[in-house]
Amino acid sequence: MDQYAVFGRPIKQSKSPFIHRLFAEQTHQQLTYGAIEPSESETFSQAAANFFEQGGKGCNVTMPFKHDAHEFATQLSERAKIAGAVNTLKLLDDGGILGDNTDGAGLVADLKLNHVELNDARILIIGAGGAARGTLLPLLQEQPSQLDIVNRTASKAQDLADLFPDHSNIAALGFGQLAESYDVVINSTSASMTEQLPPVPGSIISQQTAVYDMVYRQQPTVFMAWAKQQGARKAIDGLGMLVAQAAESFAVWRGIRPGMRQVLRELNKNLG
Ligand code: ATR
Repeated sequence: MDQYAVFGRPIKQSKSPFIHRLFAEQTHQQLTYGAIEPSESETFSQAAANFFEQGGKGCNVTMPFKHDAHEFATQLSERAKIAGAVNTLKLLDDGGILGDNTDGAGLVADLKLNHVELNDARILIIGAGGAARGTLLPLLQEQPSQLDIVNRTASKAQDLADLFPDHSNIAALGFGQLAESYDVVINSTSASMTEQLPPVPGSIISQQTAVYDMVYRQQPTVFMAWAKQQGARKAIDGLGMLVAQAAESFAVWRGIRPGMRQVLRELNKNLG
């Protein structure tokens, strides 16, 4: 049977095995999907090489190995190059290893599933770390009218905007420059993990604004609650992005795209 796995440290909490096993069932694909935590004495590249030598067909890669996976791949998709990180590896017919990044496509797919229009929209992304970077190309491909990046360390937002010299609709801002409202506001900062709010003014939210927080919890995140208080029409958490990036990886490996709704229902049951 074809073998797949997720690599990470720690890996115990990963929902990827649960998600991919449901996808396999749903699409009648014969495969196994495990979870691998390389030992402290082993590099990611040793563990991944071992996996592929033993017949592995592909894997997901999560913290802290996304940069190592980017190095390990023998060829990269355009979106992985721009993201500077890889969350999906696939064994190719010629023995090479494709490195891809499905995180941004997962965000876009989940926004669409939630009926959030991106084409011609004014989008604000808060944060300029790895999570933000992975979303930029897929968001730009939806042709928003404007994609602003705001970050505590303004130079990092500028570095991300500079990745797209051919796009005039992407810009870096400091928090002090925020004033007007956006159609879509995406929080990619790690602030929600510690129940903190990024210092954004309420004026970025109007009754037309859809807000997305890339993390998820049992309860709405502090950022989602804040956005609702400001009158946002929608506040969505990142659980759907987790499922959608997995669906995209599954499609990269198997050439078949599983549906998300059943898996989301099952995950929500387990979270609640
Ligand atoms: P990830 O890979 O999850 O994006 P990261 O690369 O460490 O993680 O980036 C974390 C992001 O969250 C950064 O944009 C960080 O801002 P700085 O670049 O200024 O450090 C942002 N961040 C973390 N905590 C924050 C807080 N309390 N308020 C605002 N931004 C925060």
